[in-house]
Amino acid sequence: MRILFIGDIVGKVGRQTLETYLPKLKQHYRPTVTIVNAENAAHGKGLTEKIYKQLLRQGVDFMTMGNHTYGQREIYDFIDDASRLVRPANFPSEAPGVGMRVININDKKLAVINLQGRSFMPMSDDPFKTADQLITQAKKETDFIFVDFHAETTSEKYAMGWYLDGRVSAVVGTHTHIQTSDERVLTHETAYITDVGMTGYYDGILGINKDEVIKRFITSLPQRHVVPDEGRGILSGVIIDLKSDGTAKSISRILINDDHPFS
Ligand SMILES: [Fe+2]
Ligand SMILES: [Fe+2]
Repeated sequence: MRILFIGDIVGKVGRQTLETYLPKLKQHYRPTVTIVNAENAAHGKGLTEKIYKQLLRQGVDFMTMGNHTYGQREIYDFIDDASRLVRPANFPSEAPGVGMRVININDKKLAVINLQGRSFMPMSDDPFKTADQLITQAKKETDFIFVDFHAETTSEKYAMGWYLDGRVSAVVGTHTHIQTSDERVLTHETAYITDVGMTGYYDGILGINKDEVIKRFITSLPQRHVVPDEGRGILSGVIIDLKSDGTAKSISRILINDDHPFS
């Protein structure tokens, strides 16, 4: 099984960059399944039903979320019916949506788990213990288990990678929007990367217009975040190859922008 995972799609530029490159990436890599993190897909915060459907039409098979899951109010109305989407599993049980889904990929089953870190992040339940429970549940159905760990710190993400090494197929980090160059297959054959990076506006700060962010750092005054509707894009992702027993064979990074053109 070959998984194409693309990091946080931010706003319109992110969606357009995905639209431009997804067909080319699919043609080049021929992934069995394409998963994207969609927590910033609508104006930088959350996801609307229209965009959820649009992403599926474009060839995305599945979506993961993060701390911005409920950024658009309308998600309360459709998340429970969104069979191709998970939000962090360690949110309180009252939160709408689910944290793990098992999907059929050709003749195989793939469990997709979304978790959120606790270091410098909003409060949530323990992602490590939640992972233990979900893996036990997933293993009843499949050995192909993909984890998007949405977290801020490199240490918490690496800890999750090692904690789940040998128990899941892949642990990929999202949320910081900057791709790390530490992709590797851990000793017990779990694919790992600290952060996949984001897909969005290239000439800003994490997909957001730079001026207001710089001003906030200089003045410490609150500023409105502006997610540009046009401009140059960046796409960040990974390709993960799994063996027939669900363990990882390889993971490699994808980074496309004007400084790293796709060829
Ligand atoms: Fe994000
Ligand atoms: Fe996030």
